[in-house]
Amino acid sequence: MERKYFDVEEIISQVEQKTRSQGGDLLIDYDSCDFSHRLVQPPIVCYLVTTKDERGNLNCAPISMGSAVWGGAPDAAWYFVMGVLGSRQTEKNLRASGECVISYYPYSLLKESHIAGLPLPPGISELEVARLTPVPSSKVSPCGIAECPNNMECRVIHRYEASGTTIFILKIVAVNVSQEIYEQDRAHPYQPGMVLADLMYEVSLNGKPERINYMRMDLKQVYRTGDELGDDSAWTGSFCSWMESEERRGRISAKEHEDILRLYERWMENPDPVGNEGTKAALSARLTELVWKE
Ligand SMILES: Cc1cc2nc3c(=O)[nH]c(=O)nc-3n(C[C@H](O)[C@H](O)[C@H](O)COP(=O)(O)O)c2cc1C
Repeated sequence: MERKYFDVEEIISQVEQKTRSQGGDLLIDYDSCDFSHRLVQPPIVCYLVTTKDERGNLNCAPISMGSAVWGGAPDAAWYFVMGVLGSRQTEKNLRASGECVISYYPYSLLKESHIAGLPLPPGISELEVARLTPVPSSKVSPCGIAECPNNMECRVIHRYEASGTTIFILKIVAVNVSQEIYEQDRAHPYQPGMVLADLMYEVSLNGKPERINYMRMDLKQVYRTGDELGDDSAWTGSFCSWMESEERRGRISAKEHEDILRLYERWMENPDPVGNEGTKAALSARLTELVWKE
């Protein structure tokens, strides 16, 4: 299949030269060049970020760049990584206060989310203008939003500046969830959590004037990766526990299992693609055969 290659650094610098960006926003779409943001950023769920300024004024803005990240034990925690342009009030408030509440918003808040993204004067609360109802937070100062299915209370633990955007790393310290969504999720065979709240996925920004286009998730169809392959008692497991599982289910014989483990040991002793080329090729071939076997 043919592929198109793009030097994105070059494309962005050309668009930067010919387009006057508004407060750091630079639209990379087919109207401005031969590339699109959406070839990098796939449809992404959006959320409202509520912060407070130094005087105590509430601020709320829709944000799409970023996602939740789960850390492993010990000291496991939920984090949230979020990119906010330096021109935003949200960015200034997060820098100064180090706290925010992140709330995913459902389709029923299409209009309210549009209002929250309007350039209201600093200090004027988007929550009030959008007629959204504050709910108290338990560990941070900014409030959550009653109409949203969840409110994640976050504290900034790191920040990194790149191209006029601040990438914040937040620790999620408390969460409140709508009782209705919580009960639906517990009773659901796949327990997909927030997706049950009919969230919206930003798919593009186009037209004149530019506007956000969203799509919604089709909840009727679930695509599950097969139970016939992989560790039979854990999600990922280890290489050895995976191979044991494959022998148990009959995908490989005891002899094949032994051969694979011998190759695995030889490869782990010297994972050099040149010096140990033969072992690498043999192990790759055995594993390819194993995973594709009907
Ligand atoms: C759906 C949507 C997603 C957005 N995502 C981001 C984002 O990821 N980062 C960002 O800096 N601005 C984003 N914006 C733009 C800000 O929400 C917008 O400029 C807002 O007015 C900023 O408000 P503030 O200055 O009160 O923070 C987004 C807007 C919308 C409508």
